[in-house]
Order: sequence, then C-alpha cells, then structure tokens
Amino acid sequence: MSSSGVSAFRARILHFTDVPNPLTGAGIEYFPDGVLLVEQGRVKAIGNAEDMAQQGFDLMQCRHFPDHLLMPGFIDSHIHYPQTSVIASYGEQLLDWLNNFTFPTELQFSDPEFAAVAAQAFLKFLLQNGTTSAMVYTTVFAQSTQAFFAAAEKMNLRMIAGKVMMDRNAPAGLLDTPETSDADCRKLIETWHCTKRMQYALTPRFAPTSSPEQLAVTGKLYRDYPGLYLQTHLSENKQEIAWIKSLYPNARDYLDVYDHYGLLGPRSVFGHGIHLSDDEVARLAQTQSGIAFCPTSNLFLGSGLLDMARLEGAGVPVSLATDVGGGTSFSQLRTLAEAYKVLQLQGQNLHPLKGFYMATLGNARALQLDNCIGNFAQGKEADFILINLGATPLQAMRQASAKELQEELFALMTLGDEHNIARTYIMGKLVFRRADNAKGELVWLD
Ligand code: GUN
Ligand code: ZN
Repeated sequence: MSSSGVSAFRARILHFTDVPNPLTGAGIEYFPDGVLLVEQGRVKAIGNAEDMAQQGFDLMQCRHFPDHLLMPGFIDSHIHYPQTSVIASYGEQLLDWLNNFTFPTELQFSDPEFAAVAAQAFLKFLLQNGTTSAMVYTTVFAQSTQAFFAAAEKMNLRMIAGKVMMDRNAPAGLLDTPETSDADCRKLIETWHCTKRMQYALTPRFAPTSSPEQLAVTGKLYRDYPGLYLQTHLSENKQEIAWIKSLYPNARDYLDVYDHYGLLGPRSVFGHGIHLSDDEVARLAQTQSGIAFCPTSNLFLGSGLLDMARLEGAGVPVSLATDVGGGTSFSQLRTLAEAYKVLQLQGQNLHPLKGFYMATLGNARALQLDNCIGNFAQGKEADFILINLGATPLQAMRQASAKELQEELFALMTLGDEHNIARTYIMGKLVFRRADNAKGELVWLD
C-alpha cells in the first residue's frame, strides 16, 4: 500500500458491466494490461495501465502480475457448509444420500466447537477456490449458524446464511419445531442480519422436512423482516416430487407449496428446479424467484439436466452453484465445466464469457448483491482473485495455442480448478496465496 492509502494492482483485468454480448463486446470490460486501484477496501478506479501512466499515475506503485488474470471473486449461490466431508459419498440418489450420509454428518454440528472448526475449514476451501461470497446452508442447530457467522465475520467475508429449519422426516436429533425455529431464527436475524458483511437467509431445508405449520412460520418471518433472503430446494429428484404429492395433496405442484406460504420473490433462491412444469416456470418468472443451477450435484446424484435455456427464456433468474456436498467440487471453474456439459447434452451451449459473468456479476445480481460486489465499479467492495491460466503442463500447452480471450477462458473453465487460483483478496487484503512451488503449498495470511 502506498503512503496515500491506495493499493494498486497491475495485471490482465476482466470484469463484466452487464450480461456479455460476445459479438459486440457489450457488457465486457477487458484490459490486457490493466490497473485496479483499491482504497479502504473498495474499488477506487480501474483502467488501462498506459492511459493511467499518461495521466500521471506512477505504475511503479503497482504490485505487478503480468501473466495473471485479475477478476472479481467468484460467488456461489447454493452450498452447505456442514457437508464438506460428505463430498464424494458413494452410490445413492437424493433421498437415500440424505439419510445415509448427510443427516448423520449434520448431527455432529450440535457441538459448537466442532461447528466452529468446520466453518473455518469450509471458508478456507471457498477462498482457496477463488470464491469470496456464498449463500450458505448451515444445520438445524442455531449454534452452527452462530459459528458460521462468527467465522465469516472474523475473515471479513460477505456471506448470506441461515439456520436449517426442519421439523419432520429426519432423525429425531436433527428436528426443531415451528416454535423453536421461529425463536432461533429471530435471535439469529437480530444478531447477524445486516451486520458487517452478513445477511440472513430463512432456510427451510425443503418441503418434505417441514410441516405446514413450520412453512407458515417461515412465511411470517419473511414478512416480518424486510430484506431477508430465503433459500430452499425445489424439484431436484423425481422420487422427491412424488413424495411432495403425498405430503401436500392440495398443492397444485411443488412450487405451489412454497407459494402458498408466501416464500416466493426476488430474494428467494431455489436449489435445482430441474423437473418443473410450465406453470411453475411461469410462476418463478412472475415472482422473479431464482433457480440455483448446481451441475456437479445434479450429475453426481443422478438428479437430471437443468434446461437453462427454458428458464432464462421465460425470464427466471438462474445462478451458478456448487451445492457441496451433493456437488463434487468447491471450484466454480469445475462447476462451469460441468454446466457446459449438462447444456451440451440438451443441444445448448454456455459461452465462456457468459460462464464467467454468471460466476461473478450474474450471481451478484441473482443474490441482489450487485450494489456491493460482482464487478469493479467504483465504490464496490474489492474482493478479487488472481488467476494463473496455466497451472498444469497441459493447461500451459493449451493456453499457448489460444488465439483470443474467449478461447483462453474456455480452456480455463474446462481444464481448471483450485490450482488456478493464485491469490485471493478480501476488501483489498491478501488472504490466500498458492506458493509458486512444485508442491503447490498454501499460504494463509491472517
Ligand atoms: N434437498 C434437501 N436437502 C438437500 C441437501 O442437503 N442437498 C441437496 N442436493 N438436496 C437437498
Ligand atoms: Zn443443496
């Protein structure tokens, strides 16, 4: 940092100002030799290095990363912090996977010490993967939500999270009640919502594990506290949908269960939404409720293929998410690679510029966070990453033959993972760096 309190970073810089149009270049700002200025944790300016030098800026002030790509930190719109160790659990689809692997693991989070250690480890996995913000499920235990917010606050991260609400169809030790979930949520909201960089999301796990009474409590909380978020799961798996029909016989469809209790809206994010009717798609669009596209999870759990063109064509906001531990990677690069393949199987494509837009500004917009993160507009919080495009010999060889930015980005998202994340900065401060040695040693800076 210079004596003026401004930090300067010089690198290749890419960010988005709107949905990118690869043909016209609209929405894309790319500086092959750019400078990012950060003051008091926020973006002060961004520009072309040569132009800034001509205007009198001394380029010698910059930390210079000539071979790296500097981008806004990635955002993950749906992930479960207690499921870090559930990742890669063999052999089941959603309902058996929950019963056999997920629920037993989540039981461990009644212990606040255990939860605190797990929260810190989880946040480090995010940062190591270049993800600087996320919308996070905790567990049914309020102390696990408390531990998560405390860890995120300590690391100065922008996070949205909430206590899982579930009062039926799970092991007894994992159940709350409508009354206790109401009291716990109110306390957590009052302690954490809109403090520092934290926001609260009401988190009924999914309709099968909440009674109608608990969903009614959730709807009342949503109305009582303007500015809250809501996250849950929707239409992920065919057995789950059949179960919904028997649990909620009067509902028109799965989405109608949530709609009935007032849980739809632009701050609501529904995980998956793979097997939706036309009515459900229309209702999501009408209420501007979002779908979190979780390709690694949808493939791993055999849930199905998300028809993104159909949703976007109808005007439903679609964000990109890992869904760890149903998802198989914390890396949004790997998530983009699988998203591309899921769409290919349906005759659709994911342009790399659109993919990187989704992982940054697109997800910020979907989570209503684009007033503070997602790109390098002046005044935004300076959460950013430095990407090494050639982290393996194969990547280096492929990148050497790339002729333009979009080809480099496509190779990055197809071949990349956490090894490509060279550095992660939170509000202008370096928090993680992958050392440049053969072992790929990790360096944490507190
Ligand atoms: N549906 C209800 N709970 C879960 C969960 O933890 N993961 C996924 N993928 N789907 C769910
Ligand atoms: Zn999930």
